[in-house]
Amino acid sequence: MYPAEPVTETEELAQIEQSALRDVSSASTLDDLAAARVRHTGRRSRLAEILGSIGSLAAVRRGEVGRAANLARRAIESALDARQKALDEEELGARLAEDAADVTLPGDPHPIGALHLVHQIRLEIEDIFLALGYEIADGPEVETGYHNFTALNMPEGHPARSLTDTFFVDGHPDRALRSQTSPVQIRVLERRDPPVYVIAPGAVYRRDDVDATHSPMFHQLEGLAVDRDLTMAHLKGTLLHLVRELIGDHEVRLHPDFFPFTEPSVQVQVRWADRHGTARWLELLGAGMVDPNVLRACDVDPERWQGFAFGAGLDRLAMVRHGVPDLRLLFESDLRFLEQFR
Ligand code: PHE
Repeated sequence: MYPAEPVTETEELAQIEQSALRDVSSASTLDDLAAARVRHTGRRSRLAEILGSIGSLAAVRRGEVGRAANLARRAIESALDARQKALDEEELGARLAEDAADVTLPGDPHPIGALHLVHQIRLEIEDIFLALGYEIADGPEVETGYHNFTALNMPEGHPARSLTDTFFVDGHPDRALRSQTSPVQIRVLERRDPPVYVIAPGAVYRRDDVDATHSPMFHQLEGLAVDRDLTMAHLKGTLLHLVRELIGDHEVRLHPDFFPFTEPSVQVQVRWADRHGTARWLELLGAGMVDPNVLRACDVDPERWQGFAFGAGLDRLAMVRHGVPDLRLLFESDLRFLEQFR
């Protein structure tokens, strides 16, 4: 282990120190250094052996050998400690370098959201009517039977009130999720005197989930105008304007229909080319002249005031506006679909 056969302990200690310092400075890892520490200062090292044998040396030599051994030990230990510190720092530096965030890499993208298509169309239509001088009205989604039906000229026993169409609130036979936005007509006329020009967009609920093309919740947009001398011509002009603003120049026609709360009632249809380019009349919304019974229920004198009302499916309008082929796409929350309408 040691080069030349030493003559005295003192000389041997000098060799031990030299060899230990060489090993310490060449240890390139903490493991190497730990091994060197055991080899040169451990219980079974030559240094430990010499230190342990001092007591049995001739008394005249004890001082000299003891001093030399302790100096050698201190020199080796301080070299070990210094090297240990250097290697610790080196290792920490390496770990930091490895774990460090590379600030030049691109970050995690946080995609910017957008309004849902149905919300967008609502805002568009609100703008169109606000420009015509309409106001936006609102009403509760849990309605009374009176507002959702009775005041709208649908007395008890009317088929639209039947349990199969409407969600009633358990234990409250007179409370139901509104099945249309038309009760907002009543709420507005109860609160204020004509002239009244309002629209009321919102969610409505029907037990329409008979098949996958129907949803138990959808969106409508109600319109109500009550003023002096309003006629069907005003109704048609208003809705034609809506159609033109929304989808451009299309032919619009009024087709006879029936609603309990309008008389006469019409279905507004628009000439529409489907995906295959085939033109047909597409039902866009229901409308009509406000039935005198509705005005009377709200203490409005039908001899003095006339009105028209309309109710459109917002989801339907969004489909027509954007050429969406299937209603279900609106509610599946598939980003591949929704992202096309930012
Ligand atoms: N409330 C009717 C419906 O849900 C639509 C409508 C509203 C018709 C206003 C006429 C007047 O089908």
